[in-house]
Amino acid sequence: MNRPEICLALDVDDPKQALDLVKNLGGTVDLFKIGLQLYCEQGNSFVSSIKTLVATVFLDLKFFDIPNTVANACKSVTRLGVDIINVHALGGSEMLQASIDAVNNEADRLGIKAPKLLGVTILTSINTQILKQEMGISGAAEENAVRLAELCKKVGLDGVVASPIETPKIRKACGDNFIIATPGIRPAQSDKNDQKRIATPREAATNGANILVIGRPIYGAANPKDAAEAIIKEL
Ligand code: C5P
Repeated sequence: MNRPEICLALDVDDPKQALDLVKNLGGTVDLFKIGLQLYCEQGNSFVSSIKTLVATVFLDLKFFDIPNTVANACKSVTRLGVDIINVHALGGSEMLQASIDAVNNEADRLGIKAPKLLGVTILTSINTQILKQEMGISGAAEENAVRLAELCKKVGLDGVVASPIETPKIRKACGDNFIIATPGIRPAQSDKNDQKRIATPREAATNGANILVIGRPIYGAANPKDAAEAIIKEL
């Protein structure tokens, strides 16, 4: 089995720190993720400048709104030429379908490759208790994540973002060609922070994840490059 790709989450405010991480780790990790924090600070031009430096950029803005609004947001980020984008699966099938159509139509219009579109299932910071007590959603977090992954597959998304814990069930339900990106990755000695449904890099790989999304355990380490290399060695 090939090892999963390592995606470094650039969850920093400072563009210089983000660029330093990209330059320092460009030859070590496989792709970089720009999330809400850096995007809200730096916007589209920064995304484009990162894209000129690295092969694969995941723009993690987790769109969640009515179908028309999400479709227009997907259309807009498709123009940035990034490689992976995402929407919340909880937005429902109509929103998911509108997102796929928007991405494909805009990419066709521009003659560019469409970004892969992933559905966020249940956030790795949300567990069964929070789902039930705060959101009134019954069933275990893992069951809900698998159900949402099946919905994403049925509508035609390229894959999902899910916890490494439900990854084996998602793989079984959605097949080998479905991308499973897993945050909530914590090497054995790392701090859990706000993540609740976690696994080590090796467990996530064994469970069948394609992309391991890792932030604080790498960029928060005294030596980020050593931390990334240790994770790759463990895999
Ligand atoms: O620092 P840490 O490794 O916890 O970072 C995880 C990254 O994955 C963050 O950028 C977070 O936004 C993202 N993410 C997540 N859970 C999801 C989807 C994305 O933690 N379900």
